Order: sequence, then structure tokens, then C-alpha cells
Amino acid sequence: MMARIGDAREAGAEALAALHARAFADSPTSRSWSAAEIVEVTAPPHAIAVAAFAPELAGFVLAWTIGEEAEILTLATAPERRRAGVARALLRAAAALAAARGAMRIVLEVGEDNAAARGLYESVGFAEIGRRKGYYRGGEGAQDALVLRLVLHSEGRHGE
Ligand SMILES: CC(C)(COP(=O)(O)OP(=O)(O)OC[C@H]1O[C@@H](n2cnc3c(N)ncnc32)[C@H](O)[C@@H]1OP(=O)(O)O)[C@@H](O)C(=O)NCCC(=O)NCCS
Repeated sequence: MMARIGDAREAGAEALAALHARAFADSPTSRSWSAAEIVEVTAPPHAIAVAAFAPELAGFVLAWTIGEEAEILTLATAPERRRAGVARALLRAAAALAAARGAMRIVLEVGEDNAAARGLYESVGFAEIGRRKGYYRGGEGAQDALVLRLVLHSEGRHGE
């Protein structure tokens, strides 16, 4: 992948919100995030906000750490930049930052029907640890969320 990985805040909240809306346009279950919400989520010191620039904004991930656990809040790759390793690079960068802050594991929720995201998380080493019934409620009805976890190794590496 020829993208540069950097701080997502460099892109500006408006650009992040616009990419998020495009990335989730086909998703029946996920609502988009406003620029104001993105500012709020990325402001605290425990926030993790990583973007890929190729050279324009190609994708980003937002997460935060709470004690030994990091949680992925959202992750998106621009539709025209998919299957080029952008999301995998974003997850690796977020995992390294989380590990550097003392996180031992990363958790997230993913829609059961989200084949692309499930394939991505599996390829990075996430494993299923639970299910939340009817977690996503979109225009096309409810969908279960799977709760996935990645255990971080002490040196900051993670599963391949
Ligand atoms: C899920 C998403 C972030 C993946 O982004 P991406 O940059 O295309 O992913 P990558 O290129 O890094 O893919 C890494 C691996 O994930 C898996 N993967 C990615 N897209 C896939 C798909 N459509 N189907 C199956 N597996 C897929 C593959 O194992 C892939 O490796 P490979 O290309 O070598 O086979 C992107 O599809 C997206 O933005 N979707 C809409 C938003 C979303 O659902 N976000 C996640 C919410 S939990």
C-alpha cells in the first residue's frame, strides 16, 4: 500500500465525516457521524485517530483506550480505495498506539452481515467473544452484532 499513515485530525472533522458518510452509504444499519461528533470523539487524551493519506484521505479509524482495553469506534475506507490494504494498515497503527498506551486487547462490534469487515478483522487476528442481539437497527430491520477481540502481545505486535 502506498498510503501514508498519520493523525486523522490532520484531515479535519468535515473531511472525516464526508468520507464516513460515503463509506457507509450502502450499509443498512450504520448511521453516519457528524463532524461535531467526530471532534468530540477525537478530542480526549485517550482517543486514537489514525488516517491513511494516498495522498488524499483514503480511510480512517477512531478508537479509544479505557484501562487495559481499547475499543474501535468506527473504521472506514473510501469506496474507491478498498482492497488495497488501507484498513489493515489502519488497524495495525491503531493497535500499536493502543499497546503503547498499555492496552492488552482491542474489542469492537461488527454487524453479522458485514462480510468485508468480518473478513478484515479475521485476517488481522480478531476472534469472536460474544453476540449482541438486534444491536444494529436500521431501515431494513435489526441485525446482530458480533463482539470481536484481538489480544495484543506485550511488544505491540498482533496476530497475522
Ligand atoms: C471493511 C472495510 C473498512 C475494509 O477496508 P479495506 O481498506 O478495503 O480493507 P483491506 O484492503 O485492508 O483488506 C484487508 C483484508 O480484509 C479482508 N477483506 C476486505 N474486504 C473484504 C471483502 N469485501 N470481502 C471479504 N474480505 C474482505 C480481506 O482478508 C483483505 O485482505 P486481502 O485483500 O489481502 O484479501 C471497508 O470495506 C469499508 O469501509 N466498509 C464500510 C464501512 C464498514 O463496514 N466499516 C467497518 C465497521 S465495523
